[in-house]
Amino acid sequence: MKSFLTILKWVAASFSLLVICFIVFVSARGGRTFEAPLPDLIASKDSAAIARGKYLVYGPGHCATCHMPMEKFDKVEAGAEIPLMGGWELAIPPGTFRAPNLTPDHETGIGTFSDGELARAIRYSVRKDGSALFPFMPFQDMSDEDIVAIISFLRSQPPIDNFVEETELSFMGKAAVALGLIGPVYPTTTPPRAVKIDSTLEYGRYVANAIANCRGCHTTRDLKTGAFIGDDFAGGMIMKDDPMAHGYSFISPNITPHPTDGVMTNWSEATFIHRFKSGRIHKGSPMPWGAFAIMTELELKAVYRYLQSLEPAPGKFTKTVFAPGEAVPG
Ligand code: HEC
Ligand code: HEC
Repeated sequence: MKSFLTILKWVAASFSLLVICFIVFVSARGGRTFEAPLPDLIASKDSAAIARGKYLVYGPGHCATCHMPMEKFDKVEAGAEIPLMGGWELAIPPGTFRAPNLTPDHETGIGTFSDGELARAIRYSVRKDGSALFPFMPFQDMSDEDIVAIISFLRSQPPIDNFVEETELSFMGKAAVALGLIGPVYPTTTPPRAVKIDSTLEYGRYVANAIANCRGCHTTRDLKTGAFIGDDFAGGMIMKDDPMAHGYSFISPNITPHPTDGVMTNWSEATFIHRFKSGRIHKGSPMPWGAFAIMTELELKAVYRYLQSLEPAPGKFTKTVFAPGEAVPG
């Protein structure tokens, strides 16, 4: 009996030591920096580049839904082009994340960022100081030309003095960084220099994956790390605790052309375009319907073509919208 107790004490002591080592490890490595390449891209003053950047920011890229004070959300949804002064905040288990001010203000915005540092944040999800951003922004495969367009537009905005508190990682978030579960995100292939804008399937693939985050929301993901764990575009991502959702929760629907499980079964191209042009139906839905309503018909045709070309993946969600207080499965 005595020896059993001794063993138990040793086990407890070793376990405590392990826990202490892990805490020390996490505090040492939880804010570590990474060596991601600095893209050799330079902002331009060309009016066509700035116009393309503005379209991407307020339209398909929907940067304004996050990089904005939350009380301005309704105005942004209605199409107001307010400078990206930052402010959206999301408190989830890995931390409290805040979308920073992206206007050229020197104290509170991107005034001191180089073009390369801005492009690196967008392409590799790395902060100016080299630490990792949480993967909210799936722009890794965006073309050089479109990143240049976006940073050219960002630089063209009036500087707005709006201090946004820094993101704070929880112990879980720091552990994920320390263990390498959160770090820079890399393009799937060498990003294209430019992409031809047309109503083609190829352009649709580019918009759905590299700009509009259709894949990011319509695929099941690990909520602790953001990792993709379900079939692409088959839905199932649970979205709750969003401060903008008025207490509602959502499960993204399957948008692959699956004959029984896909939400777009029997949708013609015209139905799809009409759905996008008519904006939000569900109060609090995280899908940026307002921003997508300004997408051009040509771009929507391309996205429709691409979605129709996908491998039909199973996954049916009889309910995708949950009222405040209603239990969300999963
Ligand atoms: C879903 C919300 C969301 C969308 C959409 C979004 N961002 Fe962000 N962005 C964030 C958050 C949150 C952070 C900070 C993340 C963190 O601290 O880990 C951030 C950080 C950044 C940074 C890093 C700035 C710095 O201080 O290091 C840049 C640059 C940026 N975003 C640009 C963009 C651009 C350009 C777009 C659109 C093409 C965009 N974002 C769309 C939420 C978003
Ligand atoms: C921020 C997350 C998010 C993004 C980004 C997003 N969706 Fe959604 N989507 C949802 C959620 C949640 C729903 C269910 C609630 C609703 O209909 O608003 C939804 C619903 C839909 C529906 C069904 C609408 C209906 O009336 O039945 C379609 C089709 C759709 N999304 C396609 C897309 C496409 C295409 C893109 C990219 C251009 C996209 N989504 C981007 C979250 C998102």
